[in-house]
Amino acid sequence: MEVYRIILVLLSGLTFFILSCSSTVDRLHINQPIKDGNTIVSHGEMYELGFFSPGKSKNRYLGIWYKKISTFTVVWVANRETPISDTSGVFHVTKQGTLMISSGNNTLIWSSNLTISSVINPVAQLLDNGNLVVWDELYRNKEKLIWQSFDYPGNTLLPGVKLGKDLISGREWFLTSWKNPNDPSKGLHKFWVDTNGYPQIFVGEAQDVQTWIRIGPWNGIGFQGLPVDNMNPIFYVEFVLNEKEIYYTYKVKSPTSIQRFILVWDGIARRLQWIKRTQEWVGYGNVLVDSCSRYGPCGPFGSCSIKSSLPCSCLEGFEPKVHEEWNAWDWSNGCQRKKALDNLDCRTSNSDVFHKISGVIFPDTRGSWYNKSMNLGECEVVCRMNCSCSAFAHLDIRNGGSGCLLWFDELMDVREYDDDHQELYIRMAASELSGKGKFGFNKKKGELAMVLSVSSVALLLAAVVYACIKRMRRLHKMGRGSKDKDHMSVHMENLDELPFFSLIKIAEATNNFNIDNKIGEGGFGPVYKGVLENGRVVAVKRLSETSQQGLDEFQNEVICIAKLQHRNLVKLLGYCIHGNERILIYEYMDHKSLDSFLFDETRSSMLDWPQRFHIIHGIARGILYLHQDSRLQIIHRDLKAGNILLDSEMNPKISDFGLARKFVGQDAITKTKKVLGTHGYISPEYAVHGRISIKSDVFSFGVVVLEIVSGKKNRGFSHEGHSDNLLGHAWRLYKEGKSIELVSACLRDSCVMSEVLRSIHVGLLCVQHHAEDRPTMLSVVLMLISEGALPPPKQPAFFTEDSYHEVDNVSSPMEYTITLLHAR
Ligand SMILES: *[C@@H]1O[C@H](CO)[C@@H](O)[C@H](O)[C@H]1NC(C)=O
Ligand SMILES: *[C@@H]1O[C@H](CO)[C@@H](O)[C@H](O)[C@H]1NC(C)=O
Ligand SMILES: *[C@@H]1O[C@H](CO)[C@@H](O)[C@H](O)[C@H]1NC(C)=O
Ligand SMILES: *[C@@H]1O[C@H](CO)[C@@H](O)[C@H](O)[C@H]1NC(C)=O
Repeated sequence: MEVYRIILVLLSGLTFFILSCSSTVDRLHINQPIKDGNTIVSHGEMYELGFFSPGKSKNRYLGIWYKKISTFTVVWVANRETPISDTSGVFHVTKQGTLMISSGNNTLIWSSNLTISSVINPVAQLLDNGNLVVWDELYRNKEKLIWQSFDYPGNTLLPGVKLGKDLISGREWFLTSWKNPNDPSKGLHKFWVDTNGYPQIFVGEAQDVQTWIRIGPWNGIGFQGLPVDNMNPIFYVEFVLNEKEIYYTYKVKSPTSIQRFILVWDGIARRLQWIKRTQEWVGYGNVLVDSCSRYGPCGPFGSCSIKSSLPCSCLEGFEPKVHEEWNAWDWSNGCQRKKALDNLDCRTSNSDVFHKISGVIFPDTRGSWYNKSMNLGECEVVCRMNCSCSAFAHLDIRNGGSGCLLWFDELMDVREYDDDHQELYIRMAASELSGKGKFGFNKKKGELAMVLSVSSVALLLAAVVYACIKRMRRLHKMGRGSKDKDHMSVHMENLDELPFFSLIKIAEATNNFNIDNKIGEGGFGPVYKGVLENGRVVAVKRLSETSQQGLDEFQNEVICIAKLQHRNLVKLLGYCIHGNERILIYEYMDHKSLDSFLFDETRSSMLDWPQRFHIIHGIARGILYLHQDSRLQIIHRDLKAGNILLDSEMNPKISDFGLARKFVGQDAITKTKKVLGTHGYISPEYAVHGRISIKSDVFSFGVVVLEIVSGKKNRGFSHEGHSDNLLGHAWRLYKEGKSIELVSACLRDSCVMSEVLRSIHVGLLCVQHHAEDRPTMLSVVLMLISEGALPPPKQPAFFTEDSYHEVDNVSSPMEYTITLLHAR
């Protein structure tokens, strides 16, 4: 007996030992509560569950966070609305399979809702995808879950979590922001799939339509207006629509990739990727916010464009409903048919026609009707038969198009968008169309494109200015600051924060613009080094006095550029307007420009590979911000090593962004020539046709990357074996499998082979001849940070130095297209 007792004691001790020491427990059984301070960890140690306090708060919440990464990042919170004020919280599973949190004196704080009644042996388990599930261990069937946290997302969409609606239970899956970083209770903002009509995504304050941004509808490949780039090596999105459920989700391509999508408390939706190398979250692909992205800025039958000087126009065949309002920039009442559609006409003579337009994001589909199997012909018939049907389109653009989408009555929230794949057929009275053909929508776009190529500067300038004016008006209306939801980045400051400098101060700082202080000659005038009263060293850019811009516009624009804040963009510190003087004050960059290192024999050895790789990343992120994350969608157009400045820590900062648009004066032609593109960096479609797009920046970026890797200038490159330029040389080596030979001799010791090869590969993808083959900057950033396979590049543009001579006659923006096509 004694022996038995000893063995029993030993055994129970051992059991206790095992239970209390195994830190990798990933599940809870009934009667195994966890207290504040204890956690469970998913099997692969990816996620951890326990009590925590967010930010500066002392309150305790039960949540799930990443176990593996160094930055504490919570992805789900149970008791969002009911914090515990002390550390007495206990989390456990009941016999019925309900999860419960109670506090010290047995008060119920939170519980999961249960749908199944007969559970034998419930277990709560934290899975390696971040899902907390409850299942019945008796049946060993984890597929039949009793409950899962993925059904109740908070502010975070982990890969695999669904957003949408379960059509059987009626449950909706959506994101709600936290109130603030210290309080996970439901904030103002919501990110949801609206399942009325054909589903779309919305983000904004649920109660206030004016704050909504509409994303969608889904076209088989992606959401219209939210470019999904198939080249991106990290994730893919899915949209599922069947009898049981409607949802949007995304999945990561590599199991080691750590990614989350978060609706931040201030309303910004961000996709974030964890970068192991630098141990930080990197954001990309924000939901775009610009002057057209708010819901329906131009009213019914209006169309919004960020490219034209005023954002709103009426769809073809429509005219402003109230001309006086429209002319006073109040577009909210939208447009109406020039000739009211005669119902009788519609029913009897059936003489209506459908006018095709493209290059738009489809109207709001909340009141729409759809059928996935109908073709376009059937679609038109159905639309024609119903007099309130105002437009139709294909549902899915894959394989030549399929499905039918019908709109009724007013068309809301149409937006111009550079994508011609999807066509919209708008109902018109036949008489209306024949009369109006000359001013067709497409025609208008054609004209616009032409104008753009001739004096793009003017239009883009106008767009920037317009966005600024609009912003200022809104700020005025809203009483500044707190209620303004139009912010792009957390770093954004109020308007007042951009300082005005007096001319006297600047003259003092630069020793009266002394020639000794001159550090360069920019596109628009000299740049001086200056020292402000407080000792801060700055760069002072003195602009051409003859610029024709009005003072107000200048000021507005300066403020807007000041809003473009990103660590990889040079920061504008202030401005000065005095008489004809227009002066910009920038942060001073200790190390001048990248080209002063790359192409200098002694200084080039100061840049080792890790630094160069860091610079490549930084430039890519800066451009991504300009293209996609900043409000204005800026195309830089003059990216080159000389425009990348380096700060004291060798962080790259893009300079001269946006300024090109400002200087339109006749006098500035020769000077702005440089800004409109620099030999060796401009893309073929831009050089030859004057066609500008974000892909021209991608091209220039590719050239910069190859220059950073090789230490050679693209322009003026020579090689004894052939007459190709740097791009041709890199391509030649790539095809021969000898890319590594491209690497600058001074990098031999420091280079990390895989990173170098990846950079060259990405560089070659960026300089491909056809713009549509080049990746977006989003893909570029993802390609650089991931390890996934990359698509093979096609032949680059401007393969040989000679090919550049064809565009040598480029002399001014005005003569651009003409000169190039007819010069010789
Ligand atoms: C005990 O319960 C009461 C309400 O029943 C609550 O006000 C109090 O804060 C609880 N105390 C603790 C320590 O949770
Ligand atoms: C449980 O259901 C009720 C009623 O449907 C709801 O108000 C409550 O928020 C739900 N609780 C959780 C944790 O989802
Ligand atoms: C969709 O169209 C197909 C083909 O015309 C038809 O057979 C089907 O009934 C339609 N579905 C609905 C829901 O109208
Ligand atoms: C036209 O379609 C709308 C929306 O589906 C419907 O409410 C209406 O009854 C239809 N009218 C006719 C005449 O079929």
